[in-house]
Amino acid sequence: MKFLNIFKNKKSYMCPLLNTNLHFTSRNTLEPCCSANIGPVLVSSLSDKKTIKSFIKEKQKFIKMLKKGKIPDGCRNCVHLTEYKKIENLKIDKITLNHYTQCNCACIYCTQGNRTIEKIKEDANKPVLFDVLNFINELYDNDLIDTKKLYIDFQGGNISCLKNYDEIINTFLNRGVGTIYIPTNNIVYMPVIENLLKIKKGEICTAIDSGSRETYLKIKQVDKFDKSVENIKKYIESAGNDSIIIKYIIVNGYNDNIDEFRKFIDLMIDLKIKVIVVDIDYRDIIDRSFTIPKHYYDIVEYAKDACKKNNIDLGIPPYTKSVLEKGYSVK
Ligand SMILES: C[S@@+](CC[C@H](N)C(=O)[O-])C[C@H]1O[C@@H](n2cnc3c(N)ncnc32)[C@H](O)[C@@H]1O
Ligand code: SF4
Ligand code: SF4
Repeated sequence: MKFLNIFKNKKSYMCPLLNTNLHFTSRNTLEPCCSANIGPVLVSSLSDKKTIKSFIKEKQKFIKMLKKGKIPDGCRNCVHLTEYKKIENLKIDKITLNHYTQCNCACIYCTQGNRTIEKIKEDANKPVLFDVLNFINELYDNDLIDTKKLYIDFQGGNISCLKNYDEIINTFLNRGVGTIYIPTNNIVYMPVIENLLKIKKGEICTAIDSGSRETYLKIKQVDKFDKSVENIKKYIESAGNDSIIIKYIIVNGYNDNIDEFRKFIDLMIDLKIKVIVVDIDYRDIIDRSFTIPKHYYDIVEYAKDACKKNNIDLGIPPYTKSVLEKGYSVK
């Protein structure tokens, strides 16, 4: 009787990311999820000539473990774990491309290694770790992609510094894709982005983090505020403002003041931006000893008010929201 009860109470789990996501990392590996918090459960080196097919097979082991109620070590306490639900379609519907770190600016907060102007010059000449195109084509050839839903997330360094970005994007467009999301500093104008926006297949997100050239220079370490704004204007003129998101990351001691934020909001109104995101520098929100200062709340309140008045959608990422509610990070 007791045994039957245990059996009945045994939970089954699943992870939507494990089921249908793929992450090409800057560590020369392929992983099933892009969980910044925990895991990942499976790390496969891309230099040992593994095929994607064998990787997908390998990850089935963990999907089955979760279904049987056993949580692999790499997934323990992960926010993405949910109760098991039968999913018919396990084709890949999200690919994160993080296999390159080259960039043309040096944001002081960048999570892609310690950024200095010297390092970005050094990085510019490094080849990418591997050509992601072989793997992408293999996925399509083996019918492993949900071609209607597929969401591509270009993380990495900056897309303008990735040598074969055109070829990668065109492969997705030719073989089937839902949306291509491109976070970019917009220092270089890219016709391929203009086209993606025009045909409603692309979304861009640019962290401007400032409302003035001086603050931008301090944070990004390049004097490209005007260029970036000019390029945003150009995209809007030719493709509209539906899929352009602009971000303000509050960076302690750099742009964490209402004056700067006000200038930023004025610029957003001027550009007719529809969506802005306010975030807090990850380095602070994952630092347990950081208590959110009062003036951060003032900025968020100002943002809420200004966005409401000007019909702008305000996004605050879920983890940042929960840190703001608690006043400190509880990781
Ligand atoms: C590493 S970047 C790569 C894409 C592109 N170069 C860009 O900056 O948009 C990916 C995303 O992480 C964000 N990011 C990087 N470091 C961060 C930090 N310390 N705090 C908050 N967001 C950060 C960037 O704003 C960007 O949206
Ligand atoms: S549960 Fe977390 S660590 Fe495990 S596969 Fe899912 S996202 Fe990755
Ligand atoms: S633009 Fe992106 S990749 Fe480049 S330094 Fe800034 S956050 Fe890092």
